[in-house]
Amino acid sequence: MSIYKIPVIAGDGIGPEIIDEGKKVIEAVGDIDGFSINWVDLPYGADHYLKTGELIDDSSVNELRKYKSIYLGSLGDPRVEPGILELGILLKLRFALDQYVNLRPVYLFEGISTPLREKGPEDIQFSVIRENTEDLYLGIGSRFANGKNKEIHDLVRQMYNAKFSIDVETNATELAYQIGALTREGAERVITYSFEYAKRKNRKKVTSVDKANVLTYMYGLWREVFEDTAKKYPSIENNSAFVDAVAMWFVKNPEWFEVVVTPNLFGDILTDLGAIIQGGLGVAPGGNINPDGTSMFEPIHGSAPKYAGTNTANPIATILSGGLLLEDLGLEKSGKRIELAVKKVLRERKTIPRDLGGNSKTDEVGTAVVASLEQIEL
Ligand code: NAD
Ligand code: IPM
Ligand code: MN
Repeated sequence: MSIYKIPVIAGDGIGPEIIDEGKKVIEAVGDIDGFSINWVDLPYGADHYLKTGELIDDSSVNELRKYKSIYLGSLGDPRVEPGILELGILLKLRFALDQYVNLRPVYLFEGISTPLREKGPEDIQFSVIRENTEDLYLGIGSRFANGKNKEIHDLVRQMYNAKFSIDVETNATELAYQIGALTREGAERVITYSFEYAKRKNRKKVTSVDKANVLTYMYGLWREVFEDTAKKYPSIENNSAFVDAVAMWFVKNPEWFEVVVTPNLFGDILTDLGAIIQGGLGVAPGGNINPDGTSMFEPIHGSAPKYAGTNTANPIATILSGGLLLEDLGLEKSGKRIELAVKKVLRERKTIPRDLGGNSKTDEVGTAVVASLEQIEL
């Protein structure tokens, strides 16, 4: 029997409760399909940080490079200033492990209602591939008032004054900037992944989302790389669209989309929109993928602190992320089994969590998925 060793960061808020259900389901699939898991539970998150002052250090990150996949709950805690845990743990891992693909499937399952009137499961079936290591997420920027960081302040002010009619010298006491950057290689690898993904999943169209009409340098490069890459895949339809219009089309015509590829920040925003049309954050899974290294699977939602410890959070996004993890390990059949078991539970509507209009507890939903696994024919 194969044994897989998988590090787990349960994290903060509802993280530990939802990850328990995810582990339970993966273990049950292992019993059916003949593999077992050695979980390596890691303490990173708010409690650990408040106790030790440690987020996650470089040697711990390097330790994680030995593994193919990490399973993660969620990070973020009201006791810690916003950004510390999110940047210091989650983004640190995505960047350090070079997980340049953020795969976020948007599929509406039967039994779940969408806020989109007149749309059903046949209309909402696409995957967003979000670039995950560049753009405005690089963390290049600063914020300063008069007198501090004088040299760079003066430089930014000079550039600002040269370009705009507002005189920032006399009209602003404080100035903040954040720089986004893309490289040709960074765009190429994720866009290529999106076409390869479309091929593998038998999807016929890839849509690129940018803002090349205004942010001409950064997203101009993105669009050019997309158009060049698309030429290598003549059997897959392709088109480019602006992010503002895509936000509208996700709502008006979600059936137009099959695979969507987009830079980091737009992908972040569009995938919360994607989540709500597929029934809510509670059901939206994701994976941070480095095809040649260590990947990390997590729901796209956060730590929902107000529901922490209440056993009411929806574990389905985490369970489905576990399915993506198994698929990435090469256990496609087991991943599919999880997806089909979740679909069965939702279709039958006997065990439905609070956010989907039911009153089943977090652990009851996990248990119902486990019970359905056995009945899935593959
Ligand atoms: P959130 O996704 O945690 O929650 C927003 C709302 O969505 C919740 O209040 C809840 O109503 C609902 N929700 C989310 N997940 C749910 C689930 N599994 N079951 C039922 N309802 C669910 O977003 P937020 O409130 O903006 O952020 C809370 C914290 O999480 C912040 O610290 C934020 O930075 C962090 N965050 C972390 C991640 C991550 O770990 N990947 C992602 C987003 C936000
Ligand atoms: C997500 C989250 C993160 C992001 C935050 C918590 C850093 O919103 O996973 O979508 O912006 O990527
Ligand atoms: Mn987000």
